[in-house]
Amino acid sequence: MSPDHPLQTNPRSTPPLPGAFHPVRVVAVTGGKGGVGKTNVSVNLAVSLAEMGKRTLLMDADLGLANVDVLLGLSPKFTLADLIAGRCGLEDVLLEGPEGVLVVPASSGFRHMAELTPAEHVGLVNVFSELQRALDFMVVDTAAGISDSVLTFCQAAQDTVVVVCDEPASITDAYALIKVLARERGLDRVHVIANMVRDPNEGRKLYEKLARVCERFLGDVALHYLGAVPQDDWLRRAVQRQQPVVKAYPGSPSARAITDIARTTARWQPPVGARGNVEFFVERLIQRGVAA
Ligand SMILES: Nc1ncnc2c1ncn2[C@@H]1O[C@H](COP(=O)(O)OP(=O)(O)O)[C@@H](O)[C@H]1O
Ligand SMILES: [Mg+2]
Repeated sequence: MSPDHPLQTNPRSTPPLPGAFHPVRVVAVTGGKGGVGKTNVSVNLAVSLAEMGKRTLLMDADLGLANVDVLLGLSPKFTLADLIAGRCGLEDVLLEGPEGVLVVPASSGFRHMAELTPAEHVGLVNVFSELQRALDFMVVDTAAGISDSVLTFCQAAQDTVVVVCDEPASITDAYALIKVLARERGLDRVHVIANMVRDPNEGRKLYEKLARVCERFLGDVALHYLGAVPQDDWLRRAVQRQQPVVKAYPGSPSARAITDIARTTARWQPPVGARGNVEFFVERLIQRGVAA
């Protein structure tokens, strides 16, 4: 990092005053393959956490095919692209979703947004240091694939959740992603959600299949099973209505399953140590991004 690096002149990158600091647990949702349910898991997990009284921010980090805002029926005036370009401030970008969940929308269709430059990462840090609100959780919905940007978001988060479904391509992509996260980014722990399962055993079996290959070929990464979400037409209907299924059809099988997963997540402790705030997340994001 050069001496005139913006981080070093940013007064908020010094440790915050006692009391002003609030640790936030950052959870990145990823999966390798597209269409496995990452965005639906992210949105419903964030809304469930908010419903449980956790102050939650949902960030759409799928900069190529953003759709968190579409799933929530929100119409952003500004997006992450405007923020990075300096056309607006963070408070202009933040939207309020169901249960008061704060949403940072991304923008679809801007291919140049898909890979941020180190300078743009720095812009993001400075912007997030403006966020004065105390948060308990930040859920980050990532893009499909194993791009640098996806890896960097996962590496900067405290927890990575890999969404898989019972298709050969999903399992191989999830394995490839976990391998790169472990080998190149030093991740030693990954949570797994099995999505679109047809019966409760399928989720566990799918997890075990993935855990077996990871154990065999990547001894240094621990997999944790977070649960399964059933294949559910109510979820599709909720997508059509642009509402999260946990709000539109709270009694449906998928909503109940995601609520159970959120209950488990809500029990995770806030990160220990004095560096768990959102600013820290974004700083890690750029440091790793630049180093990568
Ligand atoms: N549990 C589920 N049951 C039924 N359909 C699902 C489920 N999860 C996802 N889907 C379907 O898959 C589509 C893609 O989901 P999405 O969350 O956008 O995936 P990703 O973000 O991984 O690309 C959804 O629009 C929905 O139609
Ligand atoms: Mg998505």
